[in-house]
Amino acid sequence: MELSPLMKSLGLNYPIFQGGMAWVADGKLAASVSSAGGLGIIGAGNAPGDVVAAEIERAKSLTDRPFGVNVMLLSPYADDVVDVILANKDKVAVVTTGAGNPSKYLSEFKKAQIKVIPVVGSVALARMMERIGADAVIAEGMESGGHIGKLTTMALVPQVVDAVEIPVIAAGGIGDGRGLAAAFMLGAQGVQMGTRFLVAKESKIHPNYKKAVLRAKDASTMVTGEYAGHPSRVLKNKMAKDYIKLEKEEALQPEPDFAKLEEMGSGSLRRAVIDGDPDTGSFMAGEISGMVHEEQPAAEILAEVAEQAEKLLTGGR
Ligand SMILES: Cc1cc2nc3c(=O)[nH]c(=O)nc-3n(C[C@H](O)[C@H](O)[C@H](O)COP(=O)(O)O)c2cc1C
Repeated sequence: MELSPLMKSLGLNYPIFQGGMAWVADGKLAASVSSAGGLGIIGAGNAPGDVVAAEIERAKSLTDRPFGVNVMLLSPYADDVVDVILANKDKVAVVTTGAGNPSKYLSEFKKAQIKVIPVVGSVALARMMERIGADAVIAEGMESGGHIGKLTTMALVPQVVDAVEIPVIAAGGIGDGRGLAAAFMLGAQGVQMGTRFLVAKESKIHPNYKKAVLRAKDASTMVTGEYAGHPSRVLKNKMAKDYIKLEKEEALQPEPDFAKLEEMGSGSLRRAVIDGDPDTGSFMAGEISGMVHEEQPAAEILAEVAEQAEKLLTGGR
């Protein structure tokens, strides 16, 4: 498969990033993806700097290939995480960022020759990221698992491609070679997948969470948190339904109690990933859950997706 200069500069065999998922994407998952020729990305989420440092060490011990770290800019530990990344600039090739504007860190990353690739959900944000000097953007549609924007991947990606000169990576609703081939058609240079890697053999999520993704159908996800302003795509379960019920109740109050919602949601991804508890855990997953039916090693996922895309792009089926 012909790779773009960005993908070549990252030393990849496949133009496929594994999303830096909070609580899920640890050093082991990222190293498995990187070793197999994709870009593994550790999800820092809200973890303190020392926890992220330990995961970087783990990834370093498991692979010789470069990998990335996703910095959640709203995390209270974002500054510490950035320091940890800069101290590991020999191995951390890429920083992806979620939830905000990474401009205050950009010059440090540039000095360290770390590529900065923010996740964007709109043309305006993509343009702003290009202006501040980002190396590329990940345009993520609302089909994706986890925190989402408003536009779909199909509508967002080509509009971002038209709006910026920097490379665009497509994310959200991409789970197989058809998705990768389609992303190329929309003008993207590669894809980021989260949901498909949730059920990788090397993913540490609780068996209940994995089973729920593998059993999901096309309409098994719903969006919670819209009322509080941080929409998130999750599998339907008791937690999701209880949360929506509370959102509706609070919306009817003259003075909605956002703290109540905050309290219910707080720690819910940890309760999904570690405890596998469908009553209180948010099983974040994307709309493509309905086509993910098998737990496979990361290397197999990458090879399968790339091979299917290659066939389609060269006229096969
Ligand atoms: C459980 C889960 C946690 C996620 N956490 C983060 C995160 O911390 N930071 C981020 O930028 N994206 C996060 N994402 C988004 C993924 O990195 C990726 O962009 C997305 O899953 C792609 O869409 P897909 O799920 O349809 O493959 C998360 C996704 C999931 C499913």
